Amino acid sequence: MGVNVGGVELAVEEHGAGMPVVLLHGFPLSSRMWEAIVPALTQVGRVVTVDLRGFGDSEAPQSGYSMDALAGDVMGVAAALHLDRWVLAGHSMGGYVALRVAARWPERLAGLMLVDTRAEPDDAAGRQRREQAMARLRGGERGAFLDEFVANLVAAGARQRAPRLLEELRSMAEAVPVHVLIACLEGMRDRPDSRGLLPTLAVPTLVLVGEEDSITPPGTARAMAEALPKGRLVVIPEAGHTPPLERPVATAEAMLAFLAGEVLGAGT
Ligand code: MLT
Repeated sequence: MGVNVGGVELAVEEHGAGMPVVLLHGFPLSSRMWEAIVPALTQVGRVVTVDLRGFGDSEAPQSGYSMDALAGDVMGVAAALHLDRWVLAGHSMGGYVALRVAARWPERLAGLMLVDTRAEPDDAAGRQRREQAMARLRGGERGAFLDEFVANLVAAGARQRAPRLLEELRSMAEAVPVHVLIACLEGMRDRPDSRGLLPTLAVPTLVLVGEEDSITPPGTARAMAEALPKGRLVVIPEAGHTPPLERPVATAEAMLAFLAGEVLGAGT
């Protein structure tokens, strides 16, 4: 279904009933990345997937791609669906957005699931890599950029083991217009440091990461889980940066156990 947020039509899907669990995808993907996980999560809640502006089936306006602007879109979706308190899950860039929601509207969250993401901002080298990527995209190298980016999203072994997975990731990326890729790289480059936020977050938080994630590695995830008062770390073996696609069963089990035990079990 389409949800209009501030004049922008966002593609949103809902499945199941109960505690709302909102899933945000990473860059340059779409809500399709959660497809294999959604049926399992409906066992415990009402699962809401959102294509962030510019991605999947959502509209792609020229602006509004800072992490805070995307967080505002998420709140617009929550308002349209009359969500009061919910669990928010974000993969990678979706995690940066989730952390902005947590910073500004912590009272609205019953739980957080941070999937292959990080709290620290880009360092100087990271900012430089973003600049180089933006320059390549402006120079017309979209195809080559996406090929390289997508290859890094999965564990090295998966590139041989599961070539269809790369095709699936590439097809999601293919749908993203170049102005959205550039604006999101800029938005990620300029995102704030969320490390100071972590000790203030009172909600149960699952920090999930692929054992072979080279973009947001397990060490980063461990530090994040340790800084969270109610953080729980789960490392998914034989997965890189996209465990929901690479290891959907193990990922769904970890999410379900967290939701059933630490969110719903806590009576929230
Ligand atoms: C993502 O997967 O969303 C991005 O790789 C995150 C990033 O580039 O920082």
